[in-house]
Amino acid sequence: MADKLKIAVLYDAWGEETPDSEKAAESGRKRKEKEDREEIFDALTKLGHEPFYHVLDGRTQSLHALAKCGADLVFNLTESYAGDDTMEMNVAAYLDLIGLPYTGAGPHASFLAQDKATAKKMFAFHGIRTPYFATAYRGNIDHAHDVKFPLIVKPQLEDGSIGIDAAAVVNGVKELMERVQYVQNEFDSPALIEEYIEGREIYAAILGSYERTEVLPLVELDLSQLPEGVPRIASRDVKFERDSHAYKVTKSAVVEDLDEETTQKLSDTAIAAYRAVKLRDYGRIDMRLTADGEVYVIEANPNPWLSSKHEFAMAAKKSGRSYTELIKSILELALERTRKTAASD
Ligand SMILES: Nc1ncnc2c1ncn2[C@@H]1O[C@H](COP(=O)(O)OP(=O)(O)O)[C@@H](O)[C@H]1O
Ligand SMILES: [Mg+2]
Repeated sequence: MADKLKIAVLYDAWGEETPDSEKAAESGRKRKEKEDREEIFDALTKLGHEPFYHVLDGRTQSLHALAKCGADLVFNLTESYAGDDTMEMNVAAYLDLIGLPYTGAGPHASFLAQDKATAKKMFAFHGIRTPYFATAYRGNIDHAHDVKFPLIVKPQLEDGSIGIDAAAVVNGVKELMERVQYVQNEFDSPALIEEYIEGREIYAAILGSYERTEVLPLVELDLSQLPEGVPRIASRDVKFERDSHAYKVTKSAVVEDLDEETTQKLSDTAIAAYRAVKLRDYGRIDMRLTADGEVYVIEANPNPWLSSKHEFAMAAKKSGRSYTELIKSILELALERTRKTAASD
C-alpha cells in the first residue's frame, strides 16, 4: 500500500458506561480478549500506518477535535453518538461534511439498514425474500402483511440482539400483544413483528464496492444444541453472555456441508441485500436457510463487528486472509472509493 497514513481509529463511549476492564471483573473473570479497536490498531501499525484513537464522548468538543485531528482517514467503529444508536448515520454524515474519508457505510446505508422495516421494504422492492412483517407503535400500524404465527417481535431500530430473548418468539395473540407492549415500554420503539423462519442461521461476510463484491466463505451459527423448547435464535445470551448455557452450547463455524447450488443462492441473495441498502467496503448479511432450501434475509449489518474471534474475521481467514490482511482489504476499499470520488469532483 502507498504511503504511511495517519489513521484515526474512531469509536464512541458515553456517560456512565463501565470501562470494559471493570465489566469483566464484575462477571468474575479477567479480561483476556482484546477489543476489536485494539486489534485494528495493531493491524494498522503492522501495515506501516500511524493509527491513533479518537473517541466521540457525546460532547461537541470531541466532534470539533475530530475535525482538527489531522487524520488522512478514519477507521470508523462508531455505533452510536451520545448513547443513541440512531445517530450512527449522523457520525458518517459529519465525516462527509468535514471532508474526512472513512471506512465503511455512508449515512444512507446506516439509515436504510438501521431501520429494519425500511431495510425490509428495500429488500422486497428488489425481489429479495425477507419474512413477512408488520410494524406497530402505540396502537398505530405503519405496515402490515397478513402475518402468520409463530412470530418474532423485535425493536425496529435496535441492534446487537437488544430485546431479543426467548419470549420474543410468540405463538398467540396474547403473547404477541404483551411482547409488543414490552418493546414499546422498554425501548420506546416501534415493534417489528415478523414471521418466524425456522432454519439454519447463515452469515455472509462481504467485502467490496457496489460494483465489485466478494462474498467470503459462509459462516453458520449452530443453534441446534439449545435446549428443547428454547427458540433457536441468536438471543442476547447466545451472542454476549459468556457465562450462560446458551452461549456455551452455540458456536459459529465456516459451513462446509452445503451443496454448490445452495451456496450460490445464499451468496447471490447476500450480494443483492448488500446492494439494496447501499453497504460498502464491508458488511454482513444475516440469513435463514429453511429445510426446503429457501433463503430469507433477516438483516443487513453495515460495519459489522471486526473482532478476530467473530464471524467476519472467521470468514476472512477461510478466504486466505490473515486478520491484518482483512484490515488491509477494508482500508484499500475505502481508499479506492475516496480516490474515485475525488477524481469525479
Ligand atoms: N424472522 C426471524 N425468523 C427466525 N429468527 C429470527 C428472525 N428474526 C430474527 N431472528 C433471530 O434473532 C436474531 C437477531 O435478530 P436480528 O434481526 O438480526 O437483530 P440484531 O440486529 O439485534 O442482530 C437473528 O440472528 C435470528 O437468530
Ligand atoms: Mg443480526
